[in-house]
Amino acid sequence: MADNEGNIDAKDFGVGIPQKQDGFFLKGNENACYGIKSRLSRIFNPNSGRTVMLAFDHGFIMGPTSGLERIDLTINPLLEYSDCIMCARGILRSVIPPTCNKPLSLRFDSGTTILTSLNDETLEDIEEAIRLNASLLAVMVAIGDPDHEGSTIRNLTKTVDMGCRYGIPTLGVTAVGKNLTRDARYLGLATRVCAENGANVVKTYYCDENFERVTNSCPVPIVIAGGKKLPERDALQLAYNAIQQGASGVDMGRNIFQSDSPVGMLLAVREIVHNGATVDQAFEQYETYKNENKKPCGCCCCK
Ligand code: R5P
Repeated sequence: MADNEGNIDAKDFGVGIPQKQDGFFLKGNENACYGIKSRLSRIFNPNSGRTVMLAFDHGFIMGPTSGLERIDLTINPLLEYSDCIMCARGILRSVIPPTCNKPLSLRFDSGTTILTSLNDETLEDIEEAIRLNASLLAVMVAIGDPDHEGSTIRNLTKTVDMGCRYGIPTLGVTAVGKNLTRDARYLGLATRVCAENGANVVKTYYCDENFERVTNSCPVPIVIAGGKKLPERDALQLAYNAIQQGASGVDMGRNIFQSDSPVGMLLAVREIVHNGATVDQAFEQYETYKNENKKPCGCCCCK
């Protein structure tokens, strides 16, 4: 028990040595509060400044998406290879073991599905996010959608307000409206609007031309979604291009869990994001893992 007598005198005051002031490693978040920085430091690797997020929130608008029919069987074995998981609260509570201990990017809005009009969303309760130990609040923002632009920007604004109150960062997720093109002009506008409204990180799509304009004009880190399933090499090329042009990571789903070797793909993407691998090196990593971990098909050669 602490007391007042018999203690060793304190004498190592480092007189003359200025206190260390570490700048924060993630762009645009230097002035965020301690809780936000601490949570971002769990999502983004402070050494590389980047992240590999595993997205499997598709079911909240698409139902049992291919590869996500049984998340306990297909996604749980992948969790350990990701830096952060992104999902909706229902699947988290029902299927994801709390012992996985990965930072959670919580799908914080919910609403309409692919069967009607997307992006007509409401927000969850911030206390629920705290109970679930969320490290990031993910909210869809439908810039350019005449029906839902205003309501989704208001959702972002409310989320940022609540997140700032409790030290939880916000991820602005740019949705692409039916009549809008995914080009640098649109993505630049959409990501910038998210950042200007207070998102700490923005998730968007990669575009083939001038993507560096999108990352450069967004004052906070950008992570890219993978989009529809591509051949593995093309998906790695997409991740490589995005990182080379200033993305701070990926938030990938279908190109991981719909791959013929989801772990192989995750490891390959990690090589690109964190270790500066080329597409050839990453593809080799994917193939090596796949070949070394082939499931026996039951033929005479496998017995
Ligand atoms: C989209 O709104 C969902 O949030 C997905 O998380 C996102 O699109 C990333 O998944 P994918 O790489 O499959 O596009």
